[in-house]
Amino acid sequence: MNTKKVSLLQAIWIWLGEQTDKIILWIYAMFFALMIAVFVSFKTRQRMSHNNGIAGEGWLKIVDAPEFPEHPFFEKGKQYPVRIRHASATYLDDAMNCIRSISIKFSHHHWHSPFDIEMNTGAQSLFWNAVSFLKFGSMRKEQYGIEYVEYLRRYPDGVDGTKGAVRRDPTSFHNLHYYSKTPFLFLGTDGIKRYAKYRVLPLENEEQTGVEHRFSEFDLCNQRVLPFDPRGRNYLKYEYEDRVKKQGAKYRLQIQLHTASDDDDPEVFNNMVLWDERSHPWHDVAHFHIEKTLDWKQSTMTTFSVNNMPKTLGVLPAKSIYDYNSLNYLRAHSEIARKARMLSYKVFGMVPPIPDNDNRNVSGWGE
Ligand code: HEM
Repeated sequence: MNTKKVSLLQAIWIWLGEQTDKIILWIYAMFFALMIAVFVSFKTRQRMSHNNGIAGEGWLKIVDAPEFPEHPFFEKGKQYPVRIRHASATYLDDAMNCIRSISIKFSHHHWHSPFDIEMNTGAQSLFWNAVSFLKFGSMRKEQYGIEYVEYLRRYPDGVDGTKGAVRRDPTSFHNLHYYSKTPFLFLGTDGIKRYAKYRVLPLENEEQTGVEHRFSEFDLCNQRVLPFDPRGRNYLKYEYEDRVKKQGAKYRLQIQLHTASDDDDPEVFNNMVLWDERSHPWHDVAHFHIEKTLDWKQSTMTTFSVNNMPKTLGVLPAKSIYDYNSLNYLRAHSEIARKARMLSYKVFGMVPPIPDNDNRNVSGWGE
């Protein structure tokens, strides 16, 4: 009788603890989203990151013989309109040592789509949960193209992520490899729960450019344009425009799956830890072809969301601010930031295109 009472009390205590953790996570996410929405998206008319980019449109086809478990959204041979945006995070200068990105939506609309996915260069991330993401944001302390000095000194894991992710002077956005990093749900026709990571590669096997190997020769925090580098502030976007006009740009979207199990190590969800490619091979999901680039206004209006996904491919639940899945929880709760950015254009007008001038190593408009 007594033991029953104790165990019931224990269960209530644990339940209360879990609910408190979830409430703290919700407050954390809402506070963060509101700060971004008010002080970045609305006030400065900028994205939280990745402001320097170019969008394009084309068509995507799910492969004819998928080698991954069936999912109705990825039905073989199915075609979708596709809009992508390539960007450099987060400076307004293509010649700086930046993380590069591709974001994809299965739609030609700037906002609506049944499936969006955002990816950066580098297989590993620079932060691993809501707490480390907030530290990452607050310790940026950027000045004249130098940033994250304190963050990288305190968190060596962030150093590994940065080393793998920055691309200095790539010849094109097109030949880089891009990773979603965080895992998402994959609940296919067989009803077996799996987790999915995505990546994008050029369709043909091309050498990835801009990958740095001589890390002892420069300071990772110093992302400034190299002295006497002849490349202009917009060289990557011009190259992409030219490439698409002449030959288009073809890519492959791939998936990596992990079958869920009750005794899964929580590290499965840690976006700093890669899944072993021998046990978790990459499979082609779709091939897509970009046929035209969009102008500055349309590119800037284009936005992506982790909420634009079928439920069976969506964000995994998070239990606390320390849960690895809290990263995607923050993203899912940051819709207000995207809406505030769109509203800011209506109220204050569109931000101007990045000029080809000598104002180098800048992070935002007005610097
Ligand atoms: C490893 C995880 C992450 C990846 C790979 C990622 C990737 C990206 C990319 C590629 C973009 C630019 C999209 C574009 O071209 O418009 C972006 C924008 C953005 N991300 Fe992340 N991100 C991650 C984590 C987060 C987290 C944790 C948050 C927290 C809220 C967040 C919030 C945002 C916001 C607010 C924008 C700007 C949205 C807009 O104004 O359109 N991201 N992210």
